[in-house]
Amino acid sequence: MANVVIIGTQWGDEGKGKIVDLLTEKADYVIRFQGGNNAGHTLVVGERKFILHLIPSGILHPGKVCAIGNGVVIDPAVLIQEIDGLAGHGVAVNPENLLISRYAHLIMPYHRALDAARETRKGRSKIGTTGRGIGPCYEDKVARNGIRVHDLFDPEVLADKLQKNLEEKNFLLQHFFGHDPLDSEAILEEYLAYGKRIEPFSGNVSERLQAADDAGRNLLFEGAQGTHLDIDHGTYPFVTSSNTVAGNACCGAGIGPSRISEVLGVVKAYTTRVGGGPFPSELLDETGQKIQQTGGEFGSTTGRPRRCGWLDMVVVRNSARLNSLAGLGITKLDVLTGLPVLKIAVGYKCGPVKLDTVPPELTALEACEPIYEEFPGWHQDLRGVRRFSDFPENTKNYLKAIEELAGIPLFVVSVGPGRDETIILRHPFETAR
Ligand code: GDP
Ligand code: IMO
Ligand code: MG
Repeated sequence: MANVVIIGTQWGDEGKGKIVDLLTEKADYVIRFQGGNNAGHTLVVGERKFILHLIPSGILHPGKVCAIGNGVVIDPAVLIQEIDGLAGHGVAVNPENLLISRYAHLIMPYHRALDAARETRKGRSKIGTTGRGIGPCYEDKVARNGIRVHDLFDPEVLADKLQKNLEEKNFLLQHFFGHDPLDSEAILEEYLAYGKRIEPFSGNVSERLQAADDAGRNLLFEGAQGTHLDIDHGTYPFVTSSNTVAGNACCGAGIGPSRISEVLGVVKAYTTRVGGGPFPSELLDETGQKIQQTGGEFGSTTGRPRRCGWLDMVVVRNSARLNSLAGLGITKLDVLTGLPVLKIAVGYKCGPVKLDTVPPELTALEACEPIYEEFPGWHQDLRGVRRFSDFPENTKNYLKAIEELAGIPLFVVSVGPGRDETIILRHPFETAR
């Protein structure tokens, strides 16, 4: 029995979905605990590709329970679309295999409107959010104005909360942002209908997880975004609005910290970032473009091109500290094939000062220049490799350097998007300490 948290170590899109889908084979429950449909987790099974935004990446495995914890913000329209979309592909989603916390907060139309209006107003200094209303929804949660899943099941309560929220939101939208006001009746009708669809799935995730853990089941917690998009520990203000670090698996699912067995980090073999914000190892040249094209680095949620750069081990080490990582899963190693020289950032030069951690202040980080170590590349296609010993020597050396620079062993290496394009070095549900 083990309870494992999977976390992104960089700025998101590390390939968490693929790794979670892979590990689900030996898990019983797969739980999302933060973020919302700003996430886009891609699973490739044979010829089929699924992009999940809210439903945990375990859903393709029959007999497993997927849970959306209280810490997630749910856009019910997106959730229902995702349930129906999966059904259309022959994946049954029902109250047996999907459990939704009654205490998760709901993304409302005014959250999306405010997200868009704030970004427009920020102009060139915008964050580059996904526009899904994530930030404004978490704001309302913290301000204690939020509407939660269980509110959908009580028309009077929902009408009252909606009306109070709209009084304030419409004032802001109309008089500050110059936006049209939103209609309370129409939203009420729309959300009551969502409530009818969602009610059978809803329950107490915290209690269910405790019972499952007591019964010796394996729990797999699926992080969304990445450590450097964390609201506290990321490159603030160019971050998302939730804690993306492993500690939040406990808060966002309602489970005590001593029940977590270990935390594993997913590391893309290079670095990408969508939206604004500092990115010390960013490549603005042809190499960056080549990685973007070969890696298909276009957002799973918004389709935006992802900024690309060299692997930054300062960033990965920061994640190791913030998440107590016990293992690293390297993804997209195949994308680096053909580059003659590979660089890894091992430290930063910040004026005369050398740093080996990410400085939390934005201005300090923006002033940092990476210090690189260089590694010879390889030309062999890696997608057919299934054993570590079959990697070219230069690939082995690149992987060993990552392990040494992080001081953390690898548990998996991924050489393609498919399930089988993977080398499992240690399966956490067989060996978790
Ligand atoms: P997530 O948000 O962390 O789940 O990652 P995304 O799904 O947004 O982005 C990762 C992308 O890389 C997806 O298109 C995956 O199918 C793909 N992918 C995952 N692992 C590999 C790999 O090892 N090699 C290649 N070429 N693609 C991969
Ligand atoms: P997954 O789970 C990459 C980024 C946005 C923006 C910032 C804030 O697929 O790795 P938000 O809409 O959350 O307020 O946007 O965070 N962002 C992501 N980038 N992967 C994600 O999720 C992301 N979710 C949010 O691009 O820079
Ligand atoms: Mg993604």
